[in-house]
Amino acid sequence: MKDASPQTIYLSDYKPFGWQIEDVHLTFRLAPETTRVIARIHFAPNPGAPAQDFFLHGEELRLIRAAIDGAEIVPVVTAEGLRCPVPDGPFLWEAEVEIAPAANTALEGLYMSKGMYCTQCEAEGFRKITFYPDRPDVMSTFTVRIEGDLPVLLSNGNPTGAGDGWAEWHDPWPKPAYLFALVAGDLVAHSDSFTTRSGRAVALNIWVRPGDEGKCAFGMEALKKSMTWDEEVYGREYDLDVFNIVAVDDFNMGAMENKGLNIFNSSCVLASPETSTDDNFERIEAIIAHEYFHNWTGNRITCRDWFQLCLKEGLTVFRDSQFTSDMRGPEVKRINDVRDLRARQFPEDQGPLSHPVRPESFQEINNFYTATVYEKGAEVIGMLKRLVGDDGYARALDLYFERHDGDAATIEDWLRVFEDATGRDLGQFKRWYSQAGTPRLSVRETWEPRAPASTPPSRDPATQEAPDQARGDGRFTLSFTQHTPPTPGQPDKAPQVIPIAVGLLNPNGDEVVPTTVLEMTQASQSFSFDGLATRPVASILRGFSAPVVLEREQSREERAFLLAHDTDAFNRWEASQSLARDSLLSTITDGTPPDAAWLDALHKVVTDSTLTPDFRSSMLDLPSQGELAQLLHRRGNVPDPDAIWQASEGLRGIMAERWRASLPALAEEARVDAPYRPDAEQTGKRALGSKILALQSRLDGGKAAQAQFDAADNMTLQLTALACLLRAGAGAGDAALAAFHAQWKDDRLVMDKWFGLQVACAEPDTAVSVAAALTRHADFDWRNPNRFRAVLSALAGHHAAFHAADGSGYDLLADWLIRLDAKNPQTTARMCAAFQTWKRYDEGRQARARAALERIAATPGLSRDTNEMVTRMLT
Ligand code: ARG
Ligand code: ZN
Repeated sequence: MKDASPQTIYLSDYKPFGWQIEDVHLTFRLAPETTRVIARIHFAPNPGAPAQDFFLHGEELRLIRAAIDGAEIVPVVTAEGLRCPVPDGPFLWEAEVEIAPAANTALEGLYMSKGMYCTQCEAEGFRKITFYPDRPDVMSTFTVRIEGDLPVLLSNGNPTGAGDGWAEWHDPWPKPAYLFALVAGDLVAHSDSFTTRSGRAVALNIWVRPGDEGKCAFGMEALKKSMTWDEEVYGREYDLDVFNIVAVDDFNMGAMENKGLNIFNSSCVLASPETSTDDNFERIEAIIAHEYFHNWTGNRITCRDWFQLCLKEGLTVFRDSQFTSDMRGPEVKRINDVRDLRARQFPEDQGPLSHPVRPESFQEINNFYTATVYEKGAEVIGMLKRLVGDDGYARALDLYFERHDGDAATIEDWLRVFEDATGRDLGQFKRWYSQAGTPRLSVRETWEPRAPASTPPSRDPATQEAPDQARGDGRFTLSFTQHTPPTPGQPDKAPQVIPIAVGLLNPNGDEVVPTTVLEMTQASQSFSFDGLATRPVASILRGFSAPVVLEREQSREERAFLLAHDTDAFNRWEASQSLARDSLLSTITDGTPPDAAWLDALHKVVTDSTLTPDFRSSMLDLPSQGELAQLLHRRGNVPDPDAIWQASEGLRGIMAERWRASLPALAEEARVDAPYRPDAEQTGKRALGSKILALQSRLDGGKAAQAQFDAADNMTLQLTALACLLRAGAGAGDAALAAFHAQWKDDRLVMDKWFGLQVACAEPDTAVSVAAALTRHADFDWRNPNRFRAVLSALAGHHAAFHAADGSGYDLLADWLIRLDAKNPQTTARMCAAFQTWKRYDEGRQARARAALERIAATPGLSRDTNEMVTRMLT
C-alpha cells in the first residue's frame, strides 16, 4: 500500500542487528489458504552492536502465538513487523503465524504456482513467511520440517528424514533468510550425480511438473559443466550432498540461488530442440551457471546489506560471462555483452534512473536489481582484472574466499583483498562504485615523424618501443579527455581510472604495437609511442576495455581499414558499428543514402569464409533503433522514431539488393546438415543463416522463409522463418502463424514466443493494435509474468511503436501496468523502466508519456515499488 511519505533507506545509516541467531527451526503445515509456520529461534545478544529495541520484520502475517523462553507474550505488531521486550541474555523465540500462499499474487514469500508451493525470498520476502530479522547480515543454520499432502517436499541443505506427508531438511551452512527456500508439489525429477574434486558425491536433480521431464537434459549438462568449471578456474567446490533445481512457471525474475535449492523461471531451465531456440539454450546455460556460481559468490560469502548487491551480482555476472566465453568463444560473447550493455545499461545510466553500481539510498530494493548493478557491476570487475592482470586477479580472489568465507561482506572488503594481494591503491578506482553515469572519453591523435626516441615524451609506462621491422624516429601520441555528465543527485564528477586497451597497426595491416593497457587516471592525459617508422592506425578501447562512450573523430577510411584489418575482434566489429551508426544518422537527419564503401567493406567480411559464421553473423548486427535514438539525443538532436524506423528498414532493403548475388551461397554456407546440437558451431551457422534469410525475404516476399518454416525440425529455424514471414507483411505470415499456434498451443513457453513475435514483427502503425488484440486473446494470462512480458515487453521493445506519436503505445502499457500493480508490484515496477527515455523525444511525445506516467502515479493504492520508479522518472 502507498505510504503517505515513502521511507528512504540510506547506506550511511547501516547499523548491525542487536542479536545473533544460533539456529532456526521452522515447521510448515501447508494449506493453500491457511499455512501455519511455526518458528523456534535461538537469539543471543550481538556484542558488536549498538543498543536497540528488539524488532523483527513481518508483513501480511497473522500472529497466532508468540513466546519467549516458553512464556507467552503479546508483542506490538505493525504493518512492518513486531516489537517486544526481551531478556538481556540468550533466549528462545517461538512464534506461530498463519499465511495464505494461494492469495499471494506478488510472487514474493511463499506462494502457489499451478498447485505447487514455492518461495522467493530475495530480497525481502522472508518477512512474509515468519517474523524475522530479514537482513542479509543475520546468518544462521536452518532446520526445516514440511508437512503437506504432496509427493515432493524440498528445502535447503541435506535431507534428514521423510515419511508419509512430511520431510525434514537441515542446512549446515549459516545463511541469511533471503536464501531460504521451500518447494512442495507433484513434481518429477531428472536426476544425475557429480563427484567433486575432493570426492564428495552430490545428487543432482532438476524438478519439473509431469510432462516436462524431457526438457531437463540440457540444463543438467550445463550444471555439471558449471560445477567442473568452478573447480578448475576458481578452485571452488560444492559443499552439500544434494543440489536441487526446480522449474516454476510463475516467477518474477530469471532464477534464484537459494542454498542447495535453486528455483528457476521455467523459461530459464526447460529446453528441447523442438521448443527452444539457440539463444534460449545459450541463456539457460548461462543462468544455470550464474545461480550455481552464487553458491560461493553470494551464499558462502554474502552481502552485509542490500547496498552491496553488486558484490555478489556483479561478480557472479562476471564469472558467468567468463564461463560462457570458455564454452562458446570469447569474441562473440564480448560483442553480445557490449550490445546488451548499450541496449540496457547505457539508457539507465544516462537517464532519470541513473544510480551508482553501489547505490546509496533506496525505497524499494527490488527496484535496484538493475543492469547497472549487474552488468556495469561486472564491467567494473573486468576493469579491475585488466588493471591487476590475470595473476593479480587470481591471487585476490583466493584471498577473498579465504578471508571472507562465512562473512556478510562489503565493497570495501572486496577492494581491500585486491589491494592486499597486489599492493595497488584502489582509492580512485573505487569511484566506479560510487559515481553514476557513463563517462565520455574523447581522444586526439598527434604524429611527429621526427621525434628523437631519447626524449622521454611521457612518464607513462605505456611508452612503447616499436619492434625492429617498424623502427623509425616517429612518435605517435594519444591525448585523452574524460568527462562524466551529471546524474540525479550527482552534479559534479571526479576523474575515474579508465583502462584503455590500445593496439597500433601499420598501414599495411601489421600490428606494430600489440594490445597495451593505458591507465588513465586524470581528466586529461597523453600517452606516446616512440620509434615508429610510419604513422600508425590506432585501435582504441580494444575488447571494450571500459564501459565508456568513446568519442572519436576518425575518418571513414581509417574505420574501414580497422574493419578489414584489426586483429582485435571486438574493435573490428565496433569499426563497422561506428560506420553503420554514422550512415544511419545521416540518412535520418538529411536523407543521405547508406554509405556504399562501408557496405562493400562489410560484405567482404561477411563473405570471408575464413572467419567463423558466428562472428560474421555478429558483423551483420545493426545498431538498434533505441541506440540510434540515444545517439541522436547525445548529439543534441530530438530523435524521430518514425525516421529512425524508416532509415533502419531502408538500410536493410539496400543491403539485400546490393548483396543479392551472394545471398544464396551464404545461405548454403549457413546450412547445418548434422542433427541439431545447440553448440557454438551450429548456433553460429544458424545465426548467420537467419540474418541471410531476413535479407532474402526482402527480395522474395517470404518464399525461402516459408520453405524453411515448412521443413524446420527445430525451434530456431521455425521461429526465424516465422519472424521473416511476419515481417514480410501483407498476410505472408498468416498461414504459418496459424500452423504454429495449432502445433504449440499446449506448450506455454512456446506460446510466449507466439505472443511476443507478433508484436515484435509488426509494422509501427499496427504493432500497438496487435498488442492490444493479443491482450484480449483467451490465452493471455496476464497474471503470469512470462505471458505478460511476452506481449508488453515486446511492445516496449518496439521502438517506433512504443513511441508512436499518438501516445497509443504509452497508453496501452500504462493501462496494463496499472492493472498489474495491484497484483504484482515487482514486475510492474521493473517494466515501468520502459518509460525512462521519455524526455528525449519531441514535445508531443513527452506530453503523452508524462500523462501516462502521471496516470500511473495517481493510481489509488499504488505500490511502493511502482511509486518509487514513476516518481524518479517524473522528477
Ligand atoms: N539473486 C537472483 C539472481 O540474480 C535474483 C533475484 C532477484 N529477485 C528479486 N525479487 N529482486 O540470480
Ligand atoms: Zn545473481
